[in-house]
Amino acid sequence: MAFQHPKDTPSVSSYGVLTTSNGNPVETNQTSTTAGPSGPILIQDFHLIDKLAHFDRERIPERVVHAKGSGAHGIFEVTNDISHLTCAKFLSHVGKKTPIFTRFSTVGGELGSADTARDPRGFAVKFYTEEGNWDMVGNNTPVFFIRDPVKFPDFIHTQKRNPRTHLPDSDMFWDFLSLSPESIHQVTILFSDRGTPNGYRHMNGYSGHTLTLVAADGSFKYVKWHFKTDQKIKNFYAEEATKLAGTDPNHATRDLFNSIEKGDYPSWSVYIQVVEPEQANKLGFDLFDVTKVLSHKDFPLIPVGKMTLNRNPENYFAETEQSAFSPSNMVPGIAPTPDRMLQGRLFSYPDTHRHRLGPNFAQIPINSPLNGANNHQRDGFMSINGNGGRRPNYEPNSFGGPYQTNNIGTSTYPQNMTVSGNIGASPYVLSDIDFVQAANLYNIFNEGEKNRLASNIADGLTGAQTFIQKRQLAIFYRVDKDYGRRVEAELKKRGSNI
Ligand code: HEM
Repeated sequence: MAFQHPKDTPSVSSYGVLTTSNGNPVETNQTSTTAGPSGPILIQDFHLIDKLAHFDRERIPERVVHAKGSGAHGIFEVTNDISHLTCAKFLSHVGKKTPIFTRFSTVGGELGSADTARDPRGFAVKFYTEEGNWDMVGNNTPVFFIRDPVKFPDFIHTQKRNPRTHLPDSDMFWDFLSLSPESIHQVTILFSDRGTPNGYRHMNGYSGHTLTLVAADGSFKYVKWHFKTDQKIKNFYAEEATKLAGTDPNHATRDLFNSIEKGDYPSWSVYIQVVEPEQANKLGFDLFDVTKVLSHKDFPLIPVGKMTLNRNPENYFAETEQSAFSPSNMVPGIAPTPDRMLQGRLFSYPDTHRHRLGPNFAQIPINSPLNGANNHQRDGFMSINGNGGRRPNYEPNSFGGPYQTNNIGTSTYPQNMTVSGNIGASPYVLSDIDFVQAANLYNIFNEGEKNRLASNIADGLTGAQTFIQKRQLAIFYRVDKDYGRRVEAELKKRGSNI
């Protein structure tokens, strides 16, 4: 029987006539054109070739990290005036609202991996301000594993698959971490209950890095950003997370989508911790070392605003997959610091976007600033916004066109921020300071939390060779004897001959 198109169904017919990518009406989408009823297909069947050729090119490179994620639109509203600290226009007064797009993600897994993996979660927010986009590209943990970007590709390789077996590899994972003891603070968070959040709505976000806020007079302060969930923190225990990876691997994706779809909009209260420049050298550790947190007692959270997610993307690929966040997207009033990891990231993100999405990635609607980019960049693959039309494509010129603000040193870069010293590789030297914050964290865990931490670590570490287990165990002992003892006991329970 011939295929009956359900053209009388309003929801289908309301989209109009099917066309080729060239806009020509398609007579049949069910049968290819052949030479005679049983002959081969003709190359003149443009619709078939158009359709297959486009399908053949559907996949773009997935993100090299943070491949699996969920996005949502929303609003950021200022609730507390911090305009004396920054001239960022989107923070200029209480009640000011700025549209945002947020993407949450896991880190190590591929696009199809389980949402419940033990992994940090990405927490990226794009603020579409009147002076271009500010991207807060953080995680759900306030610290990171390493503190020099030159180690990042190696670190990520160890979290991915073995180059020969194509399997996750405990040796690689723990070999690198045990040889990089600065990771212990983040490792302690990762293997605690917070390593397996119950969806994206029930976790905090942190800039991790210290950034700079620049006021209108050029004065500056250092800040860390905190996004605290208004839904309360909720985590899975390891067994639940593992079970869900089999029964509902898209748990976090579904949870976020459904809650927004039914009008239960998740929100986060946004705060900053502020450090005076003179305090920076008196902390006992490097403020720009992303393996460290700031004490909340000495640097209390100052409220800034509220972020609410209230609209799901219409199309996952167009909005979420093509979204391109970068720590280098900063507005006047927000500036970088010498944090080495941040410096490395300022390069890496736009670079990967050019690879993943092409040189005109900023023209893709989800990435393009609401105030419009206005410059002399031209051409390149997929220039789709008119390419500057007839306007001059160089500067200086005598025919109009965009001009620079000349506000040098007044808003984008702080005044009186100096650097000095000889050029060279100055390594961070591992010291007792690098274990103190992990110990403080361990010691606020209750008995149950300590036991689960040790058990979660042993579940992973038991897969590594004994010499690696021993080296990592020595790090737990260096943090706290009790921490070491518990992990050792759990390893032995699992048959380790450590
Ligand atoms: C994603 C590099 C450290 C948070 C990415 C991507 C790259 C990258 C290449 C893929 C981006 C894309 O394809 O759009 C690096 C490098 C780092 C670093 C080189 C260190 C030197 C960090 C740190 C954080 C972080 C410390 C958190 C504080 C994120 C997030 C994403 C991401 C949230 C996903 C953004 C999105 O949702 O599209 N990173 N990263 N990364 N990174 Fe990093």
